[in-house]
This record gives sequence, structure tokens and C-alpha cells, in this order.
Amino acid sequence: MHIHRLTSQTILPELSKLASLLQNAVTNGASVGFLLPLSEEDALVYWQDVAKAIESSSRILLIAKADDELAGTVQLDLATRANGSHRAEVAKLMVHTSFRRQGVARLLMNAIEAEARSAGRTTLVLDTREGDPSEALYAKLGYVRAGVIPEYARSTNGKLHSTVFMYKLLK
Ligand SMILES: CC(C)(COP(=O)(O)OP(=O)(O)OC[C@H]1O[C@@H](n2cnc3c(N)ncnc32)[C@H](O)[C@@H]1OP(=O)(O)O)[C@@H](O)C(=O)NCCC(=O)NCCS
Repeated sequence: MHIHRLTSQTILPELSKLASLLQNAVTNGASVGFLLPLSEEDALVYWQDVAKAIESSSRILLIAKADDELAGTVQLDLATRANGSHRAEVAKLMVHTSFRRQGVARLLMNAIEAEARSAGRTTLVLDTREGDPSEALYAKLGYVRAGVIPEYARSTNGKLHSTVFMYKLLK
């Protein structure tokens, strides 16, 4: 398994695989900001927006690849406010269903934290659906539960769910 940081150029040949990965996550009920049905076109538009954010240096995108297969991805959204130049949000951690429970998410999270450190971002924040495997994963990696907001987002089944906000201060 190899982790790669993509630029606004090297993302281009990966767009269609990234779209499939997003569709795989959403189809399997992940809470990553989208509802069903998620068309390939809408998924592609999302990743094209990510490419623009990378281009403007406000986003870091990592992918995990096994041979030529895309196993997972994670992003770091760099705060752009003057008082938040030490802060970033970890977002859209996704591992394809055929690669889960093999340590891919852990690898991606370790790599994105290394990127955060290099970029001088030491206060990391994230949010996730309460009770999801991701909450257990983040807790294991040292993220602290700041609080829970009920009825924060809608799940793919249409129901509103609670969202947990977490943080980690990198030393
Ligand atoms: C959450 C997700 C990224 C985990 O990816 P993964 O590659 O399977 O995770 P890892 O194999 O690296 O697991 C690391 C640890 O996380 C925890 N974990 C991961 N999946 C878990 C699950 N289904 N149930 C309970 N704990 C789980 C375990 O502690 C695990 O360590 P262990 O295998 O030694 O017990 C993956 O399930 C996913 O893509 N889910 C859908 C998208 C999503 O919800 N993303 C989070 C958005 S905030």
C-alpha cells in the first residue's frame, strides 16, 4: 500500500477512480456529505472542486493505492483565516469496502498528520456521525471528543443523526 499526495495535475488521471470510491462509500451508507442517489457526474464535479482547492493551496489530498487500485483517500482543509493559520480540518476519510479493516485508514491518518505538521497545522479538527466506526478509529488515534450536536446532518436513509466534533493537538 502506498500513500501519494496529489496535485491539481496528478489528480486528473485519478478523477474517475475517486468518483467511484465516493459512490462506493455513499452507496454503503457513509456520512460524507452526500445523499443517494449519487451520480457519477455529481461525484466527478465534487472531485473537480477538490482539484480547484488543491490548486489554490487550501487543500491537501492523499490517496492510498495498492498496485493500481485506489484503496482510500483523506483530505486536509487548511484554515485560511488569519487567526487560524495553525489549524486544519481532516475531512472525507474513505476506504473502499474491499480494502476495509486492513489498516488503510490508519495509514492515511498518520500520513495526513505528517502533512499537517509540515504545513505548520497543529490544531486538527474533524466531525463524524456519532457511533460510526470512524468515531472509534479517531478516538484510537488520539482525537478528543469536544461535543455532540443532535440532528446535525441527514444520513443516506433520510434520518437526521447526531454529529461528534473532535480535535487533536499535534505536539
Ligand atoms: C471509517 C473507515 C475510513 C475505516 O477504514 P479502515 O481502513 O477499515 O480502518 P482501519 O483498518 O485503518 O482501522 C483502524 C482502527 O479503526 C477502528 N475501526 C475501523 N473500522 C471499524 C469498524 N467497522 N468497527 C469498529 N472499529 C473499527 C478499529 O479500532 C481499527 O483498528 P483494528 O483493526 O486494529 O481493530 C471506513 O470504514 C470507511 O471508509 N467508512 C465510510 C466512510 C466514513 O464514514 N468516513 C469517515 C468520515 S468522518
